[in-house]
Amino acid sequence: MGRPFDAVYLAAFYDRYGEAEWDRHERSAAHRVAFAVHAAFLRDHVQPGELVLEVGAGAGRFTIELSRLGARVHVGDLSPVQVELNRQHVDDVGASSSVVGRDVLDICDLSRFEDGTFDTVVCYGGALSYVRELAEQALGELVRVTKPGGHVLISVMSTLGTMRTFLPALTDEGRRFGLSHNERIFTTGELDRETNNGHEIKMYRWSELSALCKRHGELVAGAAANFLAASHDPAPFEALSEDEWDQLVSFELRLCREPGVLDAGTHILAAIRTPAPVSDEGVTHPR
Ligand SMILES: C[S@@+](CC[C@H](N)C(=O)[O-])C[C@H]1O[C@@H](n2cnc3c(N)ncnc32)[C@H](O)[C@@H]1O
Repeated sequence: MGRPFDAVYLAAFYDRYGEAEWDRHERSAAHRVAFAVHAAFLRDHVQPGELVLEVGAGAGRFTIELSRLGARVHVGDLSPVQVELNRQHVDDVGASSSVVGRDVLDICDLSRFEDGTFDTVVCYGGALSYVRELAEQALGELVRVTKPGGHVLISVMSTLGTMRTFLPALTDEGRRFGLSHNERIFTTGELDRETNNGHEIKMYRWSELSALCKRHGELVAGAAANFLAASHDPAPFEALSEDEWDQLVSFELRLCREPGVLDAGTHILAAIRTPAPVSDEGVTHPR
């Protein structure tokens, strides 16, 4: 492990990144497919009227999806600029009335919220990857603020899928920084700011992520985001007809939970059901 998680550094990074965080989801067919898989995972787990905490929410793409699902959303992010962009983008589509609160916060410390406040907690796009050695503490917080029997939905960067997608760039990195650099990425999933455009993250294998989730609740679903579409050469996917596009998304949605692909997208999603309270008789009650 390199230097410890640095919240001030990361907030400044995402402040500078700014609007690029909103644009990222449209950057390529692979990004659009990843968005579709993440949105489908929300549809599977979020019910109309639920109170949802969305953390690491960024510029608001999934805040808007949650609003479309009829959820009431409390938005949080480490970066003040992302929180403001979230307000603007949600406003632009007329979804502000779905947002019940908006805070600058760190998922490692959600002490401002009582235990069991939210029906569902969503942490998409890697905040758990960014907090690296504090992931256990952060997931503990996400679970604590979720009602017993509710869901925590997370997505993190995938070590193997990212290596596969970016193999040409990784080969180049191995030449510049030495083969031990690539060996470290392969074994730990850790990327450091010096060699990764300022991003300091831990990527996961499914085996690591599922073990982490099971220490905090019941792992009820896992999925890979963009397995087919994350190719070395994105060019062929940029000129798909509408029918071809629909079929690609349909393939991705139908294959994304297969055990053989969980490690092979750029992101891994997981749904955790939080432990139900144990009654005096030792009988658990669903919510
Ligand atoms: C890649 S963006 C994802 C945004 C959005 N969830 C999405 O999937 O489109 C990661 C976001 O997580 C935020 N973030 C990173 N670490 C965080 C932490 N410890 N607590 C809260 N937010 C964090 C960043 O500021 C950034 O806005």
